[in-house]
Amino acid sequence: MKTQVCIIGGGPSGLMLSQLLHLKGIDTIVLEKQSREYVLGRIRAGVLEEGFAKLMREAQCGERMDSECEVHHGFEISDNGVLQRVDLTKHSGGSSVVVYGQTELTRDLYEARDRMGGKVIHNVEDVVLHDLSADTPPWVTYRDGDEIQRIDCDYVIGADGFHGVSRKSIPREVLREYEKVYPFGWLGVLSRTKPVSPELIYARHARGFALCSLRSQVLSRYYIQVPLTDTVEDWSDEAFWEELKRRLPKDVAAALETGPSIEKSIAPLRSFVAEPMRWGNLFLAGDAAHIVPPTGARGLNSAASDIYYLYHAMLDHYHNCDDTGLDQYSQKALARVWKAQRFSWWMTSLLHTFPDSAEYDRKLQDTDLAYLFSSDRALGSLAENYVGLPF
Ligand code: APR
Ligand code: PHB
Repeated sequence: MKTQVCIIGGGPSGLMLSQLLHLKGIDTIVLEKQSREYVLGRIRAGVLEEGFAKLMREAQCGERMDSECEVHHGFEISDNGVLQRVDLTKHSGGSSVVVYGQTELTRDLYEARDRMGGKVIHNVEDVVLHDLSADTPPWVTYRDGDEIQRIDCDYVIGADGFHGVSRKSIPREVLREYEKVYPFGWLGVLSRTKPVSPELIYARHARGFALCSLRSQVLSRYYIQVPLTDTVEDWSDEAFWEELKRRLPKDVAAALETGPSIEKSIAPLRSFVAEPMRWGNLFLAGDAAHIVPPTGARGLNSAASDIYYLYHAMLDHYHNCDDTGLDQYSQKALARVWKAQRFSWWMTSLLHTFPDSAEYDRKLQDTDLAYLFSSDRALGSLAENYVGLPF
């Protein structure tokens, strides 16, 4: 097979780029390790910045998002039972965020790829990238049953998530990895219940952090901070609801509608960045190159700018014979990636209970929160980062 851009990974990053390039006449093949059912069964976060929503529309995938999403102009922070609102729109100079599940968004991207005859190959095994830094064009192989298939291309996009093969194809002496692992995880529950609050509630509590989020007016998503040693089996639905209630303000806890969990999982919290994001003819995008803890809702939004920069760089290359965008990709993408890292680390540090923290650290957290709500400039900084810094 032959294509212009071979994309490894059929998550939101890979699909979005494939769709955008297709609309500009640039041919792609997407290779995905899992089945489509598996990819669409993964429950992921649900807050999109306007920049990502705009890209969805540009990719002609925004229709269902626009009719089913909720636009949020703020969220609440609860500090040991006391609620205060962050007015995102006021403090960001007019912006807001879009609440729409990433699983739904991925479904929309798959449907668009199908509609336009896009080539997405599922269940590929043993993907190997070849000749990435050679003067000759790169090629990709994968196993389909007993047969090895080969794809010749101009460029390879590594959009295969944190555990993918692309980043690992960059030689050790070239790749630098920066990592911070947090000493806790989030236990998440999805339930077919009415959300307890119209806006998200980020709750700091001595027993640990909690988050009230939602997917729609009949679907709620809640999280609690748990030790890394906990497993899903340790948490019955009843135990989860009881612990969540303890960490919320009393009146919120009293109004909480509980029900059976549809999905329950534990995700460890991690910050990670790989540099550079380009090596030869390989370009990394999304979770393949960087991970954030979910506290600042930056995960997919951090991928959005990678896709935007790559999309425009590819357009300049193929339509204008201009490689400036490709040459500057790594540097430009990383500049925004690190800002999302900083913000996610800050929100995480501000709101979680750290097992080994001293009284001094807790006093600093108290002060950070008190300062935040006493300063329009501090709120402005939070708001502009939460709604997404410009691409
Ligand atoms: N070959 C082909 N595909 C692979 C391989 C491989 N060797 N390894 C992993 N994949 C696939 C995964 O199965 C997954 O579907 O790559 C895809 C990567 O998708 P995501 O992990 O969703 O990463 P990305 O598309 O960058 O999405 C950004 O934002 O909110 C965050 O982590 C969240 O998924 C989200 C991310
Ligand atoms: C979610 O709805 O899953 C969600 C929302 C906001 C976050 C993290 C996760 O910061």
